[in-house]
Amino acid sequence: MVTGGGSGIGRACAVALAAAGALVHVVDLDEESARTVAVDIGGEAHPADLSDAAAIGELPTDLDILVNNAGLQHVAAIEDFPAERFELIQKVMVTAPFLLLKRTLPHMYAQGWGRVVNISSAHGLRASPFKSAYVTAKHAIEGLSKVAALEGAEHGVTSNCVNPAYVRTPLVERQIAAQSAAHGIGPEQVVGEVLLRRSAAKRLIEPEEVAAAVLWLCGPHTGFVTGASIPLDGGWTAS
Ligand SMILES: NC(=O)c1ccc[n+]([C@@H]2O[C@H](COP(=O)([O-])OP(=O)(O)OC[C@H]3O[C@@H](n4cnc5c(N)ncnc54)[C@H](O)[C@@H]3O)[C@@H](O)[C@H]2O)c1
Repeated sequence: MVTGGGSGIGRACAVALAAAGALVHVVDLDEESARTVAVDIGGEAHPADLSDAAAIGELPTDLDILVNNAGLQHVAAIEDFPAERFELIQKVMVTAPFLLLKRTLPHMYAQGWGRVVNISSAHGLRASPFKSAYVTAKHAIEGLSKVAALEGAEHGVTSNCVNPAYVRTPLVERQIAAQSAAHGIGPEQVVGEVLLRRSAAKRLIEPEEVAAAVLWLCGPHTGFVTGASIPLDGGWTAS
């Protein structure tokens, strides 16, 4: 199951997992994109709002692999940050992964094998101003992932985070447009001077590069990789 599988990184993960032979459950708020991806890869679409616990209760539980990917961003100073937006971001990016783990781990434990991959972020390891809800949620998923790793180890279940810097997806395209308007500079300058300021590698990552790491974590050689956070950040966290 890939949450947020209708777009960006989630879509790339769904495509890569399907190509490797998985039957992928594509969960997304956007019904049309969930259906389009599911048709493209021969998977199953599950339109669902992950901020709604009842909707999560309708999703399948007999999974081998859970990719917690769905997410959203909101950029504002803490004093201006809408409280309901903060809460929504925690619901989608922290509570939903917790509820999905709660529902799906019993099946993985029963079969003695499972893979949980959490799409965290460089912002799970580092903070940036004006992203209080996002940085809080990403630091929280780091903790949840590690607890799942400790509890799952004896059952053959691994849990890891991947931590990309800026990936070329609609989420980032929207940020580039917003920052361009806010700073009165062109989109290329936003990428070079704002987004890639702390990255040694001066380019965006492609969603397929993130999906390749996810696929590796779900493959046959990574049973001993658990509780880890794998930076895909062009050297950001090394500096
Ligand atoms: N793009 C980046 O630079 C970047 C970097 C690091 C981490 N990430 C993380 O990767 C994940 C995917 O981001 P993306 O860049 O592919 O974004 P995206 O906007 O392209 O895709 C996110 C998907 O999540 C879905 N979604 C949002 N709210 C939902 C909800 N309530 N219920 C169900 N689905 C919902 C959206 O409909 C969308 O299809 C996020 O967790 C994000 O934080 C992204």
